[in-house]
Amino acid sequence: MHHNYKRLLINSLRYDFTGVTKKQPMIIHSRLSHNLKYFKPETQPVENQFLQDVLAGLTSTSKSLPSKYFYDETGDKLFQQIMQCEDYYPTRCEMDIFQNRTRELVGIISNLHCNVDIIELGAGDCSKSIHLLKALSNEQVNFKYIPIDISKNIIANLESSLPEQIPGIEVKGMNGDYFEMLNLLSSSSTSKKVILCLGGNIANMTINESESFCKQLRSYLNPGDIAIIGFDLVKNPRIIYNAYYDREGITSRFNLNLLTRINRELNANFNISIFEHFCSYDPLTGACRSFLVCTKETDVQIGSKTIHLKKDECIWTEISQKYSRGQIIKLAKSGGFKPTQMLTDHKEWFVDAIWTAI
Ligand code: TRP
Repeated sequence: MHHNYKRLLINSLRYDFTGVTKKQPMIIHSRLSHNLKYFKPETQPVENQFLQDVLAGLTSTSKSLPSKYFYDETGDKLFQQIMQCEDYYPTRCEMDIFQNRTRELVGIISNLHCNVDIIELGAGDCSKSIHLLKALSNEQVNFKYIPIDISKNIIANLESSLPEQIPGIEVKGMNGDYFEMLNLLSSSSTSKKVILCLGGNIANMTINESESFCKQLRSYLNPGDIAIIGFDLVKNPRIIYNAYYDREGITSRFNLNLLTRINRELNANFNISIFEHFCSYDPLTGACRSFLVCTKETDVQIGSKTIHLKKDECIWTEISQKYSRGQIIKLAKSGGFKPTQMLTDHKEWFVDAIWTAI
């Protein structure tokens, strides 16, 4: 099974985000909050949060919906199918890096010459990182694997299944918000840290969001700690475009499923048949965005609220930001990291960047 790097978003309904404490409230534009993956356990009822997020997105001047709500049961299955699509390359490329450049990854980690905590943000089924973990174990590197995931289920599964696959491995899963868990770790562990932030973690943030994410990540690390971060590279725009507009139409079903979910869970009445999936890729900015286009003027009931949509009005649902190598280096430096190395797949379409905290 492919690593579903969005697993971290599942069950996210139970959380609100920001990584900001209640003492320092921060006003966040609804779109910004959609993409941040560092959630805080929330205080309000589940349905309420979903409803609030949806209404906030659909009543703003430029309509949007939070991408974290894609991943209900159907959304999960559809995303698994997307990852197997001929046209959707990012998962396969990063898998290629973890399968074929394992020796270099092990070298970087064993060069730390001390006990290491391998901390994976949004570990999912760890189908990529398992190649690294196996190799580290074979090389007898002293390490502990600490997967952090928003889903309790994921963590429980990893804790029971990994030791069967890698005898002797020490796994200590953490369920919750990335930065809260990193905060706990920084006071409880003296080992060097290696952070794995793979898949779409960074891609699904705007460039500004990823900048603050990297700075915040750095604040939980010590000089010499390492971050391994996955980036999808800019490339022929046609290739990127096709990945988000697959010929089998699975991405379209995936995007539309968000409306089906809103209908079911929020007592809404979107007429799904008048909506279409649309995606755009802008080679100037590297932003690949997905939308739902409303092809007929309509009024939608969501609970007690009515939302008016004009003909051809677009609802923005996702960003998948693509990076140049230069941008990756810039991001590292602005976050307080030294960009040490970039490992790519055979096609050179995806990068796992190795950064050292300075
Ligand atoms: N957000 C993920 C990505 O950037 C998953 C995804 C693939 C996606 N295709 C999509 C999200 C289409 C929304 C719409 O790769």
